[in-house]
Amino acid sequence: MEKDNETYLKLFWNRTSNNRKPSLFSSKSAKATALTTTFLICFIATFSAFILCNTPKFAGVSIPNKNLSTIHAAQPQENIEFPLRCTKLENVTQTCPRDYYPTSHNPTKNHNHTCPSYFRWIHEDLSPWRETGITREMLEGARRTAHFRLVIVDGKVYVEKYQKSIQTRDVFTLWGILQLLRVYPGKLPDLELLFDCNDRPVIPKERFQGPNNAPPPLFRYCSDQWSFDIVFPDWSFWGWAEINIKPWREVLKDIKEGNKKTKWKDRVPYAYWKGNPNVASTRKNLLRCNVTEKNDWNTRLYIQDWGKESNEGYKKSNLGDQCTHRYKIYIEGWAWSVSEKYIMACNSMSLYVTPKYHDFFIRGMVPLQHYWPIRDNSKCTSLKFAVEWGNNHTDKAQAIGEAGSKFIQEEMDMNYIYDYMFHLLNGYARLLKFKPTIPSGAVELCSESMACGLNGTQRRFMEESMVKSPSDSNPCIISPPFDPVTLHDLLEEKANSTRQVETWEDQYWKNKNKGE
Ligand SMILES: *[C@@H]1O[C@H](CO)[C@@H](O)[C@H](O)[C@H]1NC(C)=O
Ligand SMILES: *[C@@H]1O[C@H](CO)[C@@H](O)[C@H](O)[C@H]1NC(C)=O
Ligand SMILES: *[C@@H]1O[C@H](CO)[C@@H](O)[C@H](O)[C@H]1NC(C)=O
Ligand SMILES: *[C@@H]1O[C@H](CO)[C@@H](O)[C@H](O)[C@H]1NC(C)=O
Ligand SMILES: *[C@@H]1O[C@H](CO)[C@@H](O)[C@H](O)[C@H]1NC(C)=O
Ligand SMILES: *[C@@H]1O[C@H](CO)[C@@H](O)[C@H](O)[C@H]1NC(C)=O
Ligand SMILES: *[C@@H]1O[C@H](CO)[C@@H](O)[C@H](O)[C@H]1NC(C)=O
Repeated sequence: MEKDNETYLKLFWNRTSNNRKPSLFSSKSAKATALTTTFLICFIATFSAFILCNTPKFAGVSIPNKNLSTIHAAQPQENIEFPLRCTKLENVTQTCPRDYYPTSHNPTKNHNHTCPSYFRWIHEDLSPWRETGITREMLEGARRTAHFRLVIVDGKVYVEKYQKSIQTRDVFTLWGILQLLRVYPGKLPDLELLFDCNDRPVIPKERFQGPNNAPPPLFRYCSDQWSFDIVFPDWSFWGWAEINIKPWREVLKDIKEGNKKTKWKDRVPYAYWKGNPNVASTRKNLLRCNVTEKNDWNTRLYIQDWGKESNEGYKKSNLGDQCTHRYKIYIEGWAWSVSEKYIMACNSMSLYVTPKYHDFFIRGMVPLQHYWPIRDNSKCTSLKFAVEWGNNHTDKAQAIGEAGSKFIQEEMDMNYIYDYMFHLLNGYARLLKFKPTIPSGAVELCSESMACGLNGTQRRFMEESMVKSPSDSNPCIISPPFDPVTLHDLLEEKANSTRQVETWEDQYWKNKNKGE
């Protein structure tokens, strides 16, 4: 662990913890001392390059000045908004309003649409329990590393908190789940699940093989091919308060605007990366590919100074202003990196350094169609070739960039994020062999109990990402599980594309070295 990071993060933490307001999670467990070295590594690990500047005004709380029982009876619910309804009295504990938000989902549109293909991985993620189902005993096996238990009973959400997560990961994850229930009120089944907010997967496949040895089901933000952890959308879709990353819906608007500013062919014809190299050796290794007087690997690499950005109020960089290069590098940190979707939304061709981990959507993307694969064990030569190829074949490179961005902007808009969560939680709940119950240590959670006591960035992001009325249509329809042949072909097709690029690359360097 480098000193620099530690200093910066302390600085960073002081800043954010000063702003902290009492909330559901600020009780005994919220000691700032939880800031361990691991914590530090994890934080920087997940983010490489982006910051925002726009700070919209603090949105005031409005309470609808209407007779709600009339509304429920008379009008189609799509036109009515149900904003945060905070108790304004001093010293009165915020409770969850009753008879306010609709409790059933009555969509006005009756169109059936198929979910994006990456949804099919939900079946794969749940397949370890397909035969056995999930018993309470299996679930409790995941308790060891969980940060919280989430319980849904009769459309209400309860949480039992076990340990403090890194920053506000748990808060915004729970917020996201509450919003899902606002999108599809009354549609979520009863369930109990355990969630681990740390980076790396912890349920190794090799430990859970053979009959009567089903793994504990544990939700987290990323997994890998050697683990059974169940992947779930990360907190940043609802905002990353500590570094001022707005909710995804807002960021997407900024990036779409930003994309219009510079046409692909007018963008800087090099591979761009900006991030914290100190979280993983592969990132330090990447920096060796930076342009020098002697070598030009066609890259422009920069170190992200979060301390400086934080002190300057994140004024410098709007995510939408960072779509200025034809090529943008994605590289993992301590685990998967939250920066992935921001990088890929830019209309630039993503240069995707071979990853170890996967989040919930990347499995739907295909090399050469949505991004360009980069070797992890020979980054500089691989990058140089990729950029030169792109500059020789601008139409093709532009098309790959656009296909990747289209995927991120359309197949991963917030509606689909909620649909993904919906199908995942539904599929999971169907496997439960026991009746979910509200543990004695749990508290009821609703948007009001989470947001009303907050102030500042967290409150602003919650207001911005809040779902104010139920969806006017049903969730998309998820395709059935892959049959083994289709799955095999899909993986082989991806491997083929990667091999194809590697062959071109080897040929290029062979010729080049011959010529010299
Ligand atoms: C709301 O409307 C219902 C039905 O019209 C009526 O019975 C009730 O008294 C009204 N409530 C308030 C607070 O105005
Ligand atoms: C609220 O609580 C504080 C501290 O207990 C007290 O000083 C204050 O007078 C209370 N305000 C009201 C309106 O009861
Ligand atoms: C949509 O699908 C459902 C169930 O698959 C079916 O009952 C319904 O008729 C379909 N609606 C339309 C408009 O196709
Ligand atoms: C990479 O090279 C560019 C151009 O010389 C320079 O501005 C930048 O600071 C370098 N990055 C690092 C991490 O040294
Ligand atoms: C790009 O084009 C130049 C000139 O035709 C050629 O020498 C070079 O090998 C090409 N590079 C790649 C990667 O296609
Ligand atoms: C929120 O912050 C503002 C300005 O810092 C302050 O005036 C206000 O009282 C705070 N509200 C709450 C609920 O803490
Ligand atoms: C992958 O490449 C091999 C050999 O080039 C070929 O035989 C196979 O059909 C390809 N598979 C797919 C799914 O494209």
